Amino acid sequence: MSDDDALAFTESLIHLRQHVSPKRLVEPGPSAQQLKLIFEAAAAAPDHGLLVPWRFVLIPAAQRPTLGEMFAAALTERDPTASAEQVADARAKAQRGAVLLLCVADLSERDPDTPSHERLVSLGCAIQNMMLTAQAMGFGAGLSSGQGLASEALRHGFRLGNGEIAVCFVSFGTVVSAKPRRERPAPDQFVTTLGGA
Ligand SMILES: Cc1cc2nc3c(=O)[nH]c(=O)nc-3n(C[C@H](O)[C@H](O)[C@H](O)COP(=O)(O)O)c2cc1C
Repeated sequence: MSDDDALAFTESLIHLRQHVSPKRLVEPGPSAQQLKLIFEAAAAAPDHGLLVPWRFVLIPAAQRPTLGEMFAAALTERDPTASAEQVADARAKAQRGAVLLLCVADLSERDPDTPSHERLVSLGCAIQNMMLTAQAMGFGAGLSSGQGLASEALRHGFRLGNGEIAVCFVSFGTVVSAKPRRERPAPDQFVTTLGGA
């Protein structure tokens, strides 16, 4: 690939990707066949020790009410004084995003040669591969997180094992409205040269 081709690739795919709020990611989302390609892209992430130290849990439409109850329980676990309106808002968030999945990292001690930060990097790469693949298919993607991910309600609901953490949700769907592209940091903000000034 020439430099010009590489530039065109980054301009058309990498730089075009932007976070889209799950509520702006509507049907149609990726089909089952497209999701398979998206997950195969996740499997292409760098993975030191070949541990596959992450997994993704799809939340189909029929399970959205169950997820809503987990969100509601997570809120009341954290704040027993939460109002009925706040609990209803938490429950409603489970309905957002045409396709929704939870990203889980395995940070257990099963391989001391691959510490937890390396496994999180691997998960991040897998997520980015999925988002870029969805982007190439014409879909938008967004990440969502929050304190509820560490709640007993979600840990129990998603059957997280010892050493597993829920890192974030990823949503995919058709973008109804996107925000203006944000200005990205310039490389000189985050690149230095060893031995340089
Ligand atoms: C692990 C992770 C969790 C995130 N959780 C949220 C979230 O809860 N809510 C949100 O609006 N954005 C969330 N984001 C998306 C960021 O806000 C977004 O990437 C950032 O604003 C930069 O915008 P861009 O992705 O369009 O470049 C999350 C991003 C990451 C990497």
